[in-house]
Amino acid sequence: MKEIIQLEKISKEYDHKRIINQIDLSIYEGQSIAFTGHNGSGKSTMLKIIAGLVKPSGGRVVYRDRLLFHYVPERFPKMSLTAWQYLKRMGEIDGIPRKVLEDRCENLFEDFFLTEMVNTSMKDLSKGTLQKIGVIQALLRKPQVLLLDEPLSGQDMDSQMVFIEKMNALRGENVTLLMSCHEQYLMESISDTVLSVGEGKVEKVDITAAFSGREYILWFEKQKNATMPEKYRPYIRQTGEGCRARIPEDESSHMIMEMIRCGWKLRGMRDAGI
Ligand SMILES: Nc1ncnc2c1ncn2[C@@H]1O[C@H](COP(=O)(O)OP(=O)(O)OP(=O)(O)O)[C@@H](O)[C@H]1O
Ligand SMILES: [Mg+2]
Repeated sequence: MKEIIQLEKISKEYDHKRIINQIDLSIYEGQSIAFTGHNGSGKSTMLKIIAGLVKPSGGRVVYRDRLLFHYVPERFPKMSLTAWQYLKRMGEIDGIPRKVLEDRCENLFEDFFLTEMVNTSMKDLSKGTLQKIGVIQALLRKPQVLLLDEPLSGQDMDSQMVFIEKMNALRGENVTLLMSCHEQYLMESISDTVLSVGEGKVEKVDITAAFSGREYILWFEKQKNATMPEKYRPYIRQTGEGCRARIPEDESSHMIMEMIRCGWKLRGMRDAGI
């Protein structure tokens, strides 16, 4: 594996408070890292330091190559541009030909269920919708390193599944993914490395140990012509217009994909242990 970014003794202080304390970290091409941890622990700070948007107070970040970065922030600035105007401008800056840009945007708007909102001013859009626009922008031109700060916050379930699919496609193309997130099923679905951030430290979490034995409860709504995938029949109980399933965590993302493919809509999801 090729190392592309190296953090050497990185520290960050805000108002004399040390958030990150002498962190060493190697990041490899095609790696998919999730930073997790409590609110205020320093996840966003780590991403910004790696993206070169925040200067560390100590240590240095070494980039092994000239890398094309794309950073999707946690909170989008409120703008009066519409989503379509914004993406058009960003695409132009990225040098994407007009027709290609239009086609890509149209397909992505459809994928993320946004078609009806493309002409709404961005200042009037919800947090989840803005987050999707940030993700679409990142997908317009494939970056080498994609940084996503809490990409799922506020996104509806169907869009979360689309997001997971798209991120795994990027992983297949060797894009390096770095994200901060709280959702364990997301880490399990798209990350190969989970790092917990807290008390100045960044520590590797053993995902298999952390998630083994967990189960999820999923709710699906039946769409027209939906069929029941044989494989998951034993886990499913019909409930009026929909169904409910209890499924081991490591099977859940496959089941969701399969159910969506068979015409069901994911309506909800929770940890069976809660
Ligand atoms: N520009 C800033 N000036 C002063 N303090 C800051 C600044 N940015 C972050 N901090 C502080 O640094 C700490 C870490 O913030 P950070 O945003 O990295 O946390 P986080 O883990 O991303 O939290 P969350 O889960 O809420 O997004 C917090 O205590 C925050 O208040
Ligand atoms: Mg944050």
